[in-house]
Amino acid sequence: MAPLSAENIFPIIFLLLTTFSVSKAELHAHYYDQICPQFEKIISETVLKASKHDPKVPARILRMFFHDCFIRGCDASILMDSTAINQAEKDGPPNISVRSFYVIDEAKAKLELACPRTVSCADIISISARDVVAMSGGPYWNVLKGRKDGRVSKASDTTNLPAPTFNVSQLIQSFAKRGLTVKDLVTLSGGHTLGFSHCSSFEARLRNFSSLHDTDPSMNAEFVLDLRKKCPKPNHNHNAGQFLDSTASVFDNDYYKQLLAGKGVFSSDQSLVGDHRTKSFVEAFAKDQGLFFKEFTASMLKLGNLRGSTNGEVRLNCRMTN
Ligand code: HEM
Ligand SMILES: *[C@@H]1O[C@H](CO)[C@@H](O)[C@H](O)[C@H]1NC(C)=O
Ligand SMILES: *[C@@H]1O[C@H](CO)[C@@H](O)[C@H](O)[C@H]1NC(C)=O
Ligand SMILES: *[C@@H]1O[C@H](CO)[C@@H](O)[C@H](O)[C@H]1NC(C)=O
Repeated sequence: MAPLSAENIFPIIFLLLTTFSVSKAELHAHYYDQICPQFEKIISETVLKASKHDPKVPARILRMFFHDCFIRGCDASILMDSTAINQAEKDGPPNISVRSFYVIDEAKAKLELACPRTVSCADIISISARDVVAMSGGPYWNVLKGRKDGRVSKASDTTNLPAPTFNVSQLIQSFAKRGLTVKDLVTLSGGHTLGFSHCSSFEARLRNFSSLHDTDPSMNAEFVLDLRKKCPKPNHNHNAGQFLDSTASVFDNDYYKQLLAGKGVFSSDQSLVGDHRTKSFVEAFAKDQGLFFKEFTASMLKLGNLRGSTNGEVRLNCRMTN
């Protein structure tokens, strides 16, 4: 047998590389083990440092992952900047959009030094989302890797995101379009255990709600008064709003307890207790945080498996195609 030399191993490597880049490869737990072993550590350190500096970062990154995966699959389409000829996803409605992109940029810059042209921006978002959950007291799981970054990002796509005014049927339908179940819907909505909402996302519930009700009847009455104070009319403070549960920097099951008390911030949240298809999951998660953590892990893996186009790349700069 001929000894392995540079000449005869090169065609094999070439073949492997080309096969990999054209196939819609499955995601792997060990995708970077050989090609960039330090990559998770680099991302985790970056995310942890940014979160210590700005406590808003964990919630923003978790929401970033959700929005990215719901539009064209988890392909980092959310990271692309608008250009002269294209308005990108991040600049589409809803107005109150995702932020903290600089954290992903920082991780990417370090990764390009450590292992150039290797780690996709989509994988950076997935690892970061896992990290912010874990560092906030939530579960830890092994992220599957090997995503590619998409080449398309359109502002108009964001109209496909579920709205905070959606009822259960609309939410179920929106998740089902992505192969996600009713249980995934209730579980992933638990992401609202972290973070904050601006008044504009829920204030329609507080005044002149419908022809029959001045306020949303599914809301706790004291909670309505509290939110009216935080969101006065007229409101000159564009930063005003409400934390999504009573422990908004801790990843726990308090969100579900708040829902059972009529204190869900969005109609979409509160609607989960008003329907027999979803209520039993809310009750189970409110009772058993361990169960919520277990299901959240499973549903985040499913969310992270949503795939975009086959024709992806590893972007050098997360804000633009190569
Ligand atoms: C079920 C449908 C969902 C709807 C309708 C929805 C809607 C919203 C809205 C309107 C906001 C507030 C934006 C603002 O006013 O600043 C928000 C924030 C947030 N969402 Fe969702 N969301 C949904 C699902 C999810 C999922 C699945 C996750 C993650 C697993 C998630 C994570 C977050 C987080 C962490 C925040 C807080 C962001 C911050 O503090 O900056 N959401 N969501
Ligand atoms: C975004 O905000 C601006 C100014 O507040 C408003 O005029 C516009 O209608 C909003 N667009 C959407 C899609 O909400
Ligand atoms: C949910 O909203 C849709 C669209 O507005 C409406 O057609 C449907 O009847 C609503 N379903 C429920 C259960 O309220
Ligand atoms: C409530 O809504 C009705 C119908 O949309 C409108 O005519 C009325 O002016 C509103 N009232 C207040 C206080 O905004």
